[in-house]
Formats: sequence, C-alpha cells, structure tokens
Amino acid sequence: MRQTGQPLLEVRDLNVTFKTNAGHVRAASDISMSVRAGETLSIVGESGSGKSVTALAIMRLHPRSADVTGSVQFDGQDLLTLDEEPMRAVRGGTMAMIFQDPMTALNPVFTVGDQIVEMIRAHEKVPKRIAHDRAVEMLASVGVPEPARRAKQYPHEFSGGMRQRAMIAMAIANSPKLLIADEPTTALDVTIQAQVIELIKEVQKATGAALILITHDLGLVAGVSDRVQVMYGSRVMETGALDDIFYRSVNPYTRALLGSIPDVSSRTRDRLKAIPGSPPSLLRPISGCPFRPRCEMAIDRCAESLPELAVVEPGHWSRCHRSEELIGVGGVK
Ligand SMILES: Nc1ncnc2c1ncn2[C@@H]1O[C@H](COP(=O)(O)OP(=O)(O)OP(=O)(O)O)[C@@H](O)[C@H]1O
Ligand code: SF4
Ligand SMILES: [Mg+2]
Repeated sequence: MRQTGQPLLEVRDLNVTFKTNAGHVRAASDISMSVRAGETLSIVGESGSGKSVTALAIMRLHPRSADVTGSVQFDGQDLLTLDEEPMRAVRGGTMAMIFQDPMTALNPVFTVGDQIVEMIRAHEKVPKRIAHDRAVEMLASVGVPEPARRAKQYPHEFSGGMRQRAMIAMAIANSPKLLIADEPTTALDVTIQAQVIELIKEVQKATGAALILITHDLGLVAGVSDRVQVMYGSRVMETGALDDIFYRSVNPYTRALLGSIPDVSSRTRDRLKAIPGSPPSLLRPISGCPFRPRCEMAIDRCAESLPELAVVEPGHWSRCHRSEELIGVGGVK
C-alpha cells in the first residue's frame, strides 16, 4: 500500500558508534530512510550490517555504550532530542517493536494478561478492569485460543508461536502508527512463521500502521514490501521500490545478495545468498567502498573514495561508482 503525504518517520544521517576497548565501532553510518503511513519498508543485509542497531537507535533502545547522532523525526517529534518521559509515551505507544525472541519483551514473572494491561495503562489512564478486558480482546485478535484463560498464564506456559502472538498483542495494544519487526519469525518453525507473518499483515491492514521489517527471508520481502533498503558494513547500499531492488538493482552488492549476478532469474529464492568472502570490519574500515574486497566489479576508483548514495531515478538510490553502467543491464525487466 503506497501512500502520499508527509513521511511518518524520517531518519537523516543516523550514526551509531560503540566505544569499545578495541576502539570505536561504527555500527550504523549515515543512515537515512523515510517511511509513510501504512507503508512497509524491509531492511535486508548480511549479519552484522547494522540492521538491528539502526532499529534500536530509532526507538532509543540502544545500549548506553552507543553514541548516536543524526535526526529521527517521527510523527512530528525529533526522537533523538526528546526527553525520556515523552519518549516512553512514544515507545509502546505510537511506535512499537516486535523482536525475534519474545522474551526480550515479555517478563517471565508476570502473567501475559497483566503485562498487556500494564502496557495499556502506561499509555492511557483506563481502569484495570477495562484494560484487562481489552487485553483479552487483544489476545483473541492475535489468534490466542481461550484468551481469558491464557491471559492468566505466564509466558513459559505459552508455546513459541503463542508467545510470539502474545508479544504482538502487547506491541499493538496501543494502536501504534509504526511497528518495527526485527526478524520476527526467525526462531519459529516454518508453518508458524507463515501464520505469524499473516497475523502481522492483518494487524497492519486493520490498524493502518507502517511497518519496518528486518529479515533475511527474501520470499517474505517480496510478499509484503513496498520498498526495500539494502545495508552493508553499516551503510545503506541501495534503496528503492520493491521492483527497483528485485528487478532493476544497479548495485553489485544487492545483486550478489539476491543471487542476481549475472541475472535476476526468479523471486523464489528464499534466503539471502551467501557471498564469498567476509563482511567488513567496522572497527577498522578499509578505504573506499566497503564491498570492494568481495566485489566482482571493483576498479581502482573503488579503493580511492567511498561512493555517495546517489539517485538512480526518483525513489531509487544506489551507493556504487559503477551504478550507471548497470542501468538496464542484467536483471529481469
Ligand atoms: N553493544 C555493542 N558493542 C559493540 N559493537 C556492537 C554492539 N552491538 C552491536 N555491535 C556491532 O554492530 C554491528 C551491527 O550489529 P547489528 O546487530 O545491527 O547487525 P544486524 O545487521 O542486525 O545483524 P543480524 O542479521 O545478525 O541480526 C555488528 O558488527 C556488531 O558487532
Ligand atoms: S563502488 Fe566499486 S567496489 Fe563498491 S560496489 Fe561499486 S563497483 Fe563494487
Ligand atoms: Mg539483527
């Protein structure tokens, strides 16, 4: 669902740096993105490319050891300069996160129902009984059977898939405008994965929420995304509409990731392709393009300077010195 109007989320030049004993680790570099109401943006990239760090920094859930700069405009507020109290109203209120491991969000010592009640009451002054009824409704809406009984149970009494549903109920308890899902189904078995994705899509349709989906699952990306952002070595390498990335990519990293060199041949490949070589060190970045040691198209210029993230066509951006040569070359039209 693509919509017009002002973006709901506008991230500009976000940088996240960890100060470690070994030195500074730049885990997210100059990240920009915008997400409109109701839209789904998927973020893909190899392990360690900075996807989770970016999502956590947007929600200001990053570790204290991280230094964050840039700007995160969300729903009319600059989140990076917001005081902690109004930020708490945003988190779990207008913006909520779904994690890979539900126990990141659920507390083992409280019942599932009580946790949803707390989440509702942290954002809205409603009597406990009403919040409880709403919590049971939320559990029912995410497909938890016997919701009144299950509300009285503890997270460990739920199966993995049910726990994921409970976490989603908690995330949507206050009708967020933006949901950020970080590998929401990776830990689940395949049939449950499909159900949970279906649920997230239903929730999005019912609430009109925007969704940022972080995933390694390309089938999922193809099925749900309006736009896709590809990350490598802490940076955005390419961003565009789903078809710009799947069929008209002009970035060697994206193409390698999708298994599309020399040709993008099918959408059925499920996972990101393993690319020979290793991801770059974020502690000691090399000069020029971070993908250079693994890139089949690297030339001398790639060692000399880092390519800018440049416009290919409206809405489609790529970071590569040779992007222009790839326009209309290879890929399926
Ligand atoms: N607390 C931390 N201290 C130092 N470095 C960190 C810390 N957290 C993350 N990093 C580094 O930041 C980089 C980006 O990590 P991030 O978790 O965002 O990767 P990711 O793209 O989400 O990977 P995955 O697909 O495996 O989840 C990694 O190189 C990681 O080692
Ligand atoms: S800038 Fe050079 S090394 Fe980097 S992706 Fe483009 S061609 Fe490859
Ligand atoms: Mg991650």
